Amino acid sequence: MSSDPLKVAVTGAAGQIGYSLLFRLASGALAGDRPIELRLLEIEPALKALEGVVMELDDCAFPQLAGVQIGSDPEQIFDGVNLALLVGARPRGPGMERGDLLEANGAIFTAQGQALNKVAADDVRIGVTGNPANTNALIAMSNAPDIPQERFSALTRLDHNRAISQLAAKVGAPVTSIKQMTIWGNHSATQYPDLFHATVDGKVAAEVVDDQDWLENTFIPTVAKRGAAIIEARGSSSAASAASATIDAAHDWLFGSADNDWVSMAVRSDGSYDVPEGLVSSFPVVTEDGDWTIVQGLGIDEFSRARIDASTAELAEERDAVKELGLI
Ligand code: NAD
Ligand code: LMR
Repeated sequence: MSSDPLKVAVTGAAGQIGYSLLFRLASGALAGDRPIELRLLEIEPALKALEGVVMELDDCAFPQLAGVQIGSDPEQIFDGVNLALLVGARPRGPGMERGDLLEANGAIFTAQGQALNKVAADDVRIGVTGNPANTNALIAMSNAPDIPQERFSALTRLDHNRAISQLAAKVGAPVTSIKQMTIWGNHSATQYPDLFHATVDGKVAAEVVDDQDWLENTFIPTVAKRGAAIIEARGSSSAASAASATIDAAHDWLFGSADNDWVSMAVRSDGSYDVPEGLVSSFPVVTEDGDWTIVQGLGIDEFSRARIDASTAELAEERDAVKELGLI
């Protein structure tokens, strides 16, 4: 592995997620011992708060932190970055769906896509956490014609982790006994966490659970609406868990997913599993050295088909809405 510093951009760095994400990035959670250089993008009014966060980063004396640059100009901050974590966007409040943020947040991703297209390193990977994440990734991708489309992904790893945790609690097994979890579709209430391919100690999870009512009426809605439940309880949206999932996703993308397992990532559909080509939708993927491949050949029964179709129909609506807004 190269010992050159990995240049990682984080947008919205003075926000809630940033406050957890930056410290974990700097302490080696992403790249282990490899030095890391942070490039932190914020809007002008938040730069003073960001200076305070950088003072705290300094005060940690992280051995792996090779440098920090802050600013509000995406072309300056993204210059030469190997990884861009696009977090900066408005979060939803109580009673809102993530799709309600499209108009407020979509434009952020046109400008950032264009800037990445101009100045990022040739090997750049771009992970979108800011909501609505799938469609924001589509916007950034559409505005960066020179960056290969497979370099863009949106975060459904938080949903994936939530699904593992809910299943582990239900069956009374450690999270490490659960493999092959899949989130299909949109990072929204229509997402489909799939227990027909997940396993618990090598056995099909749906069979281990053996409780269709729980699967349908408790598990799926609990995972799909977990973000709203956290907003209701905390008064603001998930932050530490979102930062943790952002790192899990980037780590596995750059350095590989665990042997004999897969992860969920929202990536540009090539038409696999009849997900319309071009939508940024969540799939089971295996990752290696910065590349991902959609796991092929999984049987999809009627129950799963209906749910995948409902979520991808929502993604198609979001795509049409941003087309209408002139963002793609
Ligand atoms: P926050 O409001 O605390 O922070 C967002 C930050 O983004 C703010 O500091 C703001 O100044 C900054 N920002 C706004 N426009 C920007 C721009 N053009 N360039 C750079 N920075 C900009 O919000 P948060 O809690 O950190 O959440 C950030 C986003 O992540 C929200 O959209 C939220 O819904 C989303 N989120 C996604 C997931 C997921 O699983 N995909 C999970 C949690 C939160
Ligand atoms: C989450 O899933 O926690 C985030 O997407 C925040 C939200 O709006 O639910």
